Amino acid sequence: MKPRRPLSFFASIAAALSASLLVMHAAHAFEVVKPQVDTGALPAAAKTWDEPNPLRGNKDAVVIGRSAFNQACAQCHGADANGSRSPAPDLRRMGIGCRRIQDEALRQRCMGDADAFFIKSVRYGKQKFGIVHMPPWEGVLTPEVAWSIRSFVENAPK
Ligand code: HEC
Repeated sequence: MKPRRPLSFFASIAAALSASLLVMHAAHAFEVVKPQVDTGALPAAAKTWDEPNPLRGNKDAVVIGRSAFNQACAQCHGADANGSRSPAPDLRRMGIGCRRIQDEALRQRCMGDADAFFIKSVRYGKQKFGIVHMPPWEGVLTPEVAWSIRSFVENAPK
């Protein structure tokens, strides 16, 4: 009789692999939530990925952004962006140092840089060594929803 060991060895590897693929797939499906928000009140000019945030100072955007954030981002970044969930960073502090800059043009540039970093992180997600730390959101979020979230987090209580 031939030894059966190699077959069961490969079978157990295959079982372990498909089990971990299932877990990964389940986690992935859980992470990417398309937020249900009504963006009808937002200006058409917000339909762009270009910084600076076209919705800065827009009160409707803050309300829409809070809802979208709590639907899609809070599971990793904490409810209302309050920084309670690690290891995802506290998003309320992004670009906060810009506010101290006296020179108006320089302050705007600083905010624009922070916006660019924010929107790039959101569109393309965060991958390190092939491991997804944050999924990409392009195709899930429209630019106006992403900018609304930016408006919400920068106005969230710190
Ligand atoms: C599956 C968990 C998860 C979800 C869901 C998630 N994030 Fe993240 N996010 C992370 C992690 C972890 C990091 C840090 C990754 C790194 O630095 O490599 C991060 C980083 C970021 C950054 C960069 C912050 C910095 O200071 O480097 C931004 C901006 C961001 N996320 C925005 C969002 C937004 C907006 C949403 C919702 C649309 C969202 N994230 C949903 C896990 C998540």
